[in-house]
Amino acid sequence: MPTLPAHKGPVRVAIVGTGGMARHHALAFKAIPGCRLVACADVALERAQAFAKEHGIPAAFGDLGALLTETECDAVSIVTPDPFHAPLTLQALKAGKHVMCEKPLALNHRDAQRMLAAATKARRIHMVNLSYRNWPALQAVAKFVRDGGVGEIRHVEASYLQSWLVGNYWGDWRTSPAWLWRLSQKHGSQGVLGDIGVHIVDFAMFPAGPIREVFCRLKAFPKAPGNRIGEYRLDANDSAVLNVEFANGALGALHTTRWSTGHRNRLYLKISGTEGAVEIDSERATDAYRVSRGADVHATAWKDVACKPTPTNHQRFIKAIRTGRQDQPDFGAGVLAQKVLDASFASDAKRAPVRV
Ligand SMILES: NC(=O)c1ccc[n+]([C@@H]2O[C@H](COP(=O)([O-])OP(=O)(O)OC[C@H]3O[C@@H](n4cnc5c(N)ncnc54)[C@H](O)[C@@H]3O)[C@@H](O)[C@H]2O)c1
Repeated sequence: MPTLPAHKGPVRVAIVGTGGMARHHALAFKAIPGCRLVACADVALERAQAFAKEHGIPAAFGDLGALLTETECDAVSIVTPDPFHAPLTLQALKAGKHVMCEKPLALNHRDAQRMLAAATKARRIHMVNLSYRNWPALQAVAKFVRDGGVGEIRHVEASYLQSWLVGNYWGDWRTSPAWLWRLSQKHGSQGVLGDIGVHIVDFAMFPAGPIREVFCRLKAFPKAPGNRIGEYRLDANDSAVLNVEFANGALGALHTTRWSTGHRNRLYLKISGTEGAVEIDSERATDAYRVSRGADVHATAWKDVACKPTPTNHQRFIKAIRTGRQDQPDFGAGVLAQKVLDASFASDAKRAPVRV
């Protein structure tokens, strides 16, 4: 993407969707010098107003349209449930705003591509919040593997494990709309695959390259009488297992679930090649990884490698606006991951491998 004109002065950001994740966005933007939160919006206006009060944001609205008409901002951060990512992003881009959008970028590959095309045409900075790119270990492993650190890649293991359907450490999912919409297709959820599977797909592809074929199994286990709670039909998948082949020929086993007792939020990645292997285990460290290469290969020994700090997605987004130079993870990364998700759903439906 060509360089855009540099932005002078403070970067004024608006947040749309003021639920659970929005707090993280507010704190992240507020911590960046020269970045100002100028407005927020939520379909539940009182939630937006309370959020504005909590974070010292001067204006709160009931929808993005009113926000765009009544305030001046340079960028919009979209933190609504998944079905609204595409329409709100297109609306913000049309109004000339830079956009950071939560993951998954869209509900399908076609919409994700439309978002990327619209951002490119509008010549705006675009970013999808694949938040594990914030981890020094992932950035360092991606560079190490791409620089040939493990030789030719042969085998990739990756998993993202949660257990909030069993444990109550994040509250009781049965009584919380913030969890219930994630379990219901009608509420726009693509299940665990769309919610956190998208992260583990990016976590594997960022260092190991694109996936070209996937054989996926998805399951939604029974969770309540009639598999329904109020307006929420509990039909979105909550366990996903993907056998994949990468474009470079390597095979991979990726899986994710909300049933993995003992793990609150664990990401694991191991990439093995002709000359060694690297491993990230978030329960050990997110600013260090393990490597086995050289003499260690024969001794089956590992060494810990500390990583230097890396900018967060929020810092990258604001810097990209200031400099006019697009940074990662851009909508292109969201599009690539969405393509794997679409192929996974098709594969599960057919019970057969699908080209990505
Ligand atoms: N990157 C990450 O690690 C990460 C972590 C958690 C959530 N997320 C993503 O963030 C998004 C929001 O998740 P959450 O946990 O905050 O959900 P949430 O249900 O807690 O909050 C969503 C908020 O959006 C509001 N909303 C719904 N439709 C809207 C619309 N059209 N316009 C304005 N506001 C609207 C809702 O009223 C609610 O307040 C999801 O896409 C989720 O996948 C990402």
